[in-house]
Amino acid sequence: MSLIELRSVTKTFRSTSEDVTPIQELDFDVEQGTFVVLMGPSGSGKTTLLHLLAGIDRPTQGTVRIAGEEISALSPSQLARWRTRAVGYVFQQYNLIPVLTAFENVEVPLLLLRLSRQERERKIATALAAVGLTDRAHHLPRQLSGGQQQRVAIARAIVADPVVVLADEPTGNLDRQAATRTMELLRRLVDEFGKTLVMVTHDPVTARSADRIVHLDKGRITTGAPSHA
Ligand SMILES: Nc1ncnc2c1ncn2[C@@H]1O[C@H](COP(=O)(O)OP(=O)(O)O)[C@@H](O)[C@H]1O
Ligand SMILES: [Mg+2]
Repeated sequence: MSLIELRSVTKTFRSTSEDVTPIQELDFDVEQGTFVVLMGPSGSGKTTLLHLLAGIDRPTQGTVRIAGEEISALSPSQLARWRTRAVGYVFQQYNLIPVLTAFENVEVPLLLLRLSRQERERKIATALAAVGLTDRAHHLPRQLSGGQQQRVAIARAIVADPVVVLADEPTGNLDRQAATRTMELLRRLVDEFGKTLVMVTHDPVTARSADRIVHLDKGRITTGAPSHA
């Protein structure tokens, strides 16, 4: 059984003018502990697919199963709880809270779990150490470079020890050097920490870090050949 299993998933956004179906009868599997890159033209459904994996969007039809849990069948409150434990999400724009320090930003997901302050502090310290930012813990986002902000965002994504990490163009705003460092870090999450990573990118250089590259076009997978990485 794959860690991530989508079966015949269709997602339609309905509106008064026209319906949009970015994902059509999609079957998609990701093995535990692998790094999959999604590529495809703008509007091909990449972000929608990540949202389905994160339980942010629900499929119109079909099933999404992650680590044995059919998330497409959970209620909204069950889904919110599941998401906190199971999924970390990394955005192109980092999405840090500007008035919180790096430490406090990483703490946010933990506030939804029942943990003692000591346990929280231990987890935050571990996550910041994993991304190499122990010495920046008390800086605000604006006092950090783009690459450092993205590493704080990655620490926030892994602090609750999720099985799956999803990243939507995480290097899109970074220069090549910061992008390379970010990719080394994401690769390490898979190799050392056993995370399963699904990442969207437009950048073929970035995509080379993956175990497998999946091309989406018009809501369907066109190829899923292994990369040469
Ligand atoms: N919440 C939404 N409501 C209506 N249409 C949406 C919504 N989210 C995405 N879409 C549409 O679905 C299509 C795929 O979008 P998206 O998944 O963001 O593509 P990509 O990330 O590959 O650029 C686009 O046509 C987009 O306009
Ligand atoms: Mg997108």
